[in-house]
Amino acid sequence: METLAEASARRLLTESLIHLNGEAVGTRAALSAWTAAENYADCFIRDFVPSALVFLQAGREDVVRNFLRVALRIRDLQEEMEGHRGLPRVMPASFRVERLSDGRETLHADFGDRAIGRVAPVDSMMWWVLLLQAYVSKTGDRALAADPAFQRGMQSILGVLLNDRFEVFPTLLVPDGSFMIDRRMGVYGHPLEIQALFFGSLNALSALLVPTDTLAPMLEQAAKRRAQLTEYVRQFYWLDMTRLNEIHRYETEAFGQDAANPLNIYPESIPDWVVDWLPDRGGYLLGNLGPGRMDFRFFAFGNLLAVIFGLATQAQAEAIMNLYEAQWSDLVGRMPVKLIYPAMAGLEWQLLTGSDPKNTPWSYHNGGNWPALLWAFVGAAMRAGRGDLARRALDIAEPRLLADDWPEYYDGRNGRLIGRRANTRQTWSGAALLVAHGLLREPGQLDFWMAPDEVGGWQSEVELAKMPE
Ligand code: GLC
Repeated sequence: METLAEASARRLLTESLIHLNGEAVGTRAALSAWTAAENYADCFIRDFVPSALVFLQAGREDVVRNFLRVALRIRDLQEEMEGHRGLPRVMPASFRVERLSDGRETLHADFGDRAIGRVAPVDSMMWWVLLLQAYVSKTGDRALAADPAFQRGMQSILGVLLNDRFEVFPTLLVPDGSFMIDRRMGVYGHPLEIQALFFGSLNALSALLVPTDTLAPMLEQAAKRRAQLTEYVRQFYWLDMTRLNEIHRYETEAFGQDAANPLNIYPESIPDWVVDWLPDRGGYLLGNLGPGRMDFRFFAFGNLLAVIFGLATQAQAEAIMNLYEAQWSDLVGRMPVKLIYPAMAGLEWQLLTGSDPKNTPWSYHNGGNWPALLWAFVGAAMRAGRGDLARRALDIAEPRLLADDWPEYYDGRNGRLIGRRANTRQTWSGAALLVAHGLLREPGQLDFWMAPDEVGGWQSEVELAKMPE
């Protein structure tokens, strides 16, 4: 039997559908927008993810198929920007259908060229690939992925992802605000969420691309990069008490291949809060890592996706859930889940957000709580064998979301307040609740995203490898 909240979320999802020539092709981000930001009427690629998972579960594969086609088509609408040879060819952040006076309908997209802050959404193309994988695995419709237009699209995405940049790390380098956190938040460089998506999409692309002679070297390179990325993230992003002790006593200024502290991290950069906050039996993946830089903040979505895609080992997945249990009021509180912990304040907030009033401490991206992540929390908890935590989170979220009419986010240290500028009737807040319910009933629902060699036999130890050469 569906709960009242489920029924209400399902209505919201149906009302949010966007049509093109009579066919449903996506969902609006919010049906009631607080701000004047008109793009909440758009279909955002990332926001559509939980909607798509619901549609796949509910026998509405057609919506997901239409969405995948439309998003691919829009990619070709990208206009040349002066000074850029061949565009990055990312997928748009969002799109909308506009009706012309003669009744015809056209597609309009935002590639970051219109969005507030003008950020290119690096995550969109990866979510598109992951949704294609979900669709193919759920429907068995391999023909869609084999379609030449889809193969070309995927090949070009793989090309963008594997493009060499000015650095030696296996991780993907991106600008600030190029993913769910789409405003300046000091997340430039190698943010965890992007690395988890990178890992997931390399897996998906190897599964979906039909190998040809031209493609073979690229696929080989993808496999190597994936292996390096996995080792690197599992070792160098990981933080637990053992690692914290190592970092606390790190030698610095070491030269050469075998340096224990290859990124030259200064122990002085360990923030005060982390030492007492980290539980004995828990751990998490750091928010970001680069030369002389460790971002110790806890980023929920990156950690949860790392668990769902199998980038985190089984032991790490369990430790992440132990951390959630130990620091429940900080990381879940009155609304699952906190996007980033802790919030930045004072000079740090001024310098890293550019004094962004939407991202004041414990609000919005800067320490707000986002119901849209409920599906990922429940998915990760089920994967780590913590159905108890999944249930607990859902029981907290459900009555409030229904009573508050599906807010976009919550504010305050424990997520007690409705977000200051939050929309209500935010579609992915509703869709996330529906996916979470589905996962509690059937925990294997996201298995298609699990890395192939991790299915069935997860490594139980973190294999400490050398820094990839
Ligand atoms: C905000 C969020 C972004 C989301 C969009 C639409 O810009 O930061 O992640 O996709 O709203 O809901």
